[in-house]
Amino acid sequence: MPLFNRRQFVASAAALGMAAAHSSVRARPRAKPWTERRELYPQGVASGDPTSESVILWTRRQPVDGNAAAALTVEVSEHADFRRIVARGRARIGADTDWTCRFLAGGLESAREYYFRFTDEQGQGSRIGRTMTAPSDSDGRPVRFAFVSCQDPTQGAMNAWRKMIFEDERRAAGERLGFVLHLGDFIYELVFYPEDSPGGLSRGRRLRDLVRYANGRKMGAFHLPSNLDDYRTAYRSYLTDPDLQDARARWPFVCMWDNHEFSWQGFQSQEMFNGEIKPAQTRKVAANQAWWEYQPARVRQAKGFNLEAFDAPQVSDVPLDKFDPLGLGLEPNNLAALGSLTIYRALRWGRHVDLILTDNRTYTSGSYEPGPIIPEGYRGMIPQHAYEIVDSGSAYGGGNPPATIRYGGKDLPNTRREGSPDQHLGTVQKAWFLDRLKSSKATWKIWGHSFGSLISRTDLQNLPAGIVAQPWPSDDYGVISGGYFAQHAEICDLVRSENIGGFAIVAGDRHSFWAGLVSKSLPPKGFDPVGVEFVTGSISAQGTFEVVRQSMKKEEPLRPLYLHDRPDGAIEPALNMTVRHGVRASLELQRSHDAERALALSNPDVAPHLKFADLGAHGFTTVRASADGLEAEFVCIPIPFERSESPDGGPLAYRVVNRVPLWRGGEKPRIEQALLEGTAPLGNPI
Ligand SMILES: [Fe+2]
Repeated sequence: MPLFNRRQFVASAAALGMAAAHSSVRARPRAKPWTERRELYPQGVASGDPTSESVILWTRRQPVDGNAAAALTVEVSEHADFRRIVARGRARIGADTDWTCRFLAGGLESAREYYFRFTDEQGQGSRIGRTMTAPSDSDGRPVRFAFVSCQDPTQGAMNAWRKMIFEDERRAAGERLGFVLHLGDFIYELVFYPEDSPGGLSRGRRLRDLVRYANGRKMGAFHLPSNLDDYRTAYRSYLTDPDLQDARARWPFVCMWDNHEFSWQGFQSQEMFNGEIKPAQTRKVAANQAWWEYQPARVRQAKGFNLEAFDAPQVSDVPLDKFDPLGLGLEPNNLAALGSLTIYRALRWGRHVDLILTDNRTYTSGSYEPGPIIPEGYRGMIPQHAYEIVDSGSAYGGGNPPATIRYGGKDLPNTRREGSPDQHLGTVQKAWFLDRLKSSKATWKIWGHSFGSLISRTDLQNLPAGIVAQPWPSDDYGVISGGYFAQHAEICDLVRSENIGGFAIVAGDRHSFWAGLVSKSLPPKGFDPVGVEFVTGSISAQGTFEVVRQSMKKEEPLRPLYLHDRPDGAIEPALNMTVRHGVRASLELQRSHDAERALALSNPDVAPHLKFADLGAHGFTTVRASADGLEAEFVCIPIPFERSESPDGGPLAYRVVNRVPLWRGGEKPRIEQALLEGTAPLGNPI
């Protein structure tokens, strides 16, 4: 994806097929009266994908009683009272884009705060938005941004957004956040309707009657979108949340989808529920169109850049049959659906930040399931060696996969010996990503990766006999989450061989906070960190600890690895301890209720890569990237059951800063931590 610079702007605007404002209209007086009529713009305003001289502005002007606007005037000013207009233009709106509007405001100064507003032909205006342009490539000042993921206002409150706003308003001008990176699950396409659950509760959360699909399908306990109108409904409904809307009106957003913007367990253009794959090309196109309509972003349609209209291909729902070597379905309707919107891209902030965003869902091989090697009674944990062999398929061992897999004392045939390696980037995107990584001149190469790469595992080989009826079938670790091993190794090898320093991954999806070092492999293989990674807790969606606490029975044998039942009846996330320190630590915690004694039994080989793991956490993460270091600050809040009426968004659970000194290629990165506020979560002594 090209970046935009001043010289390219006019040509780029033409190529984007859109109205563009220019600095040539600088200092023009206000043309007509303006009255704020927020109710006509119920989703507020937003801005997205800033460069050093332009930013995309967004709103939705809803028709009311047949009164629809055909075009909106957009005005940009350096002042909140618009006493001087630096850019003005007009943008068409209509039913074909659900009355949403995108406008590229160009010719702006770098690293500047701007205000913007939309007005219809009657002078009825949107709320006023604020945005920031990016610093120029030579700007050496620190870059600050926040990253977030996983917001579900149907089941919780957006207190994290309120807190982020409250804190940013109190920062010195030079320390304010320059943008918000949203790493996906902006919407959850699965919706639980209150009347379907006893007491209107789902796993202890009060269900809000926020999203209703006119054409939805019921699948088990939840409702799914069927078509474009349903996907639009989700965005329209979410954006009425006042905290989310205020955040979009305060900062430019840079958005990357995760899985739920299309389909929970879906991959490419296919849905998967209960292990059954169904073709869903029509819904993939609908999901893409709704995302394009509601997220102002520099993304590419099938025929190129276009901010005015979405060109939806006519597709049919057809099963995939033939695949390329990395598992991409070559079925024409699949390719047309995926090609309707390409959103992987890179953006630059000054001298220090190259943000490289990958789309980990559209080209993923996805359909592969490691089923036969999942042992019974271990809650889905998989012996690592066997998992690596089947996950890597024909790519295992540098292209020399074994004929058999040692598992449960037997040698099982390796049925995936000739299969494609499980991967999530695809051939074309991977080549683009590796090239961007190699050619980046920024101090920090920040990979926006929706779900992250840090493996979580524990030493089930050390679990005492008799706890689970069936013995652990391996002398190896049990992987709780991981995969894509061959692709991960290829990327780590490239970072090492190219001597790339300052490589940092930021991720979401896990509904929990993680900090760690990125390594090709872990003990008993080599541990060779080449980067750092930070995963942010969810804005509001339920986390692992909350779900397990609601669903795990008292008598379940592995309960001490997941939950610590304290003598006073409180329950803590023992899983933090298990993934960082191993099973002996968690079993000791349940026996003695003494975290120090538990930590004394830590197995250092379980997770030399992990520096922090809190499986019961919500909030957001802020980043400060400068010439000599990067700081990632976890801002953790309690479970947001209800909206806080407090202007600061409610209480804080903890604030932990991870400090990473800049390292050069060939050196090893390291993470230092400090607890700034609150109490560090179980298993994470700081
Ligand atoms: Fe999520």
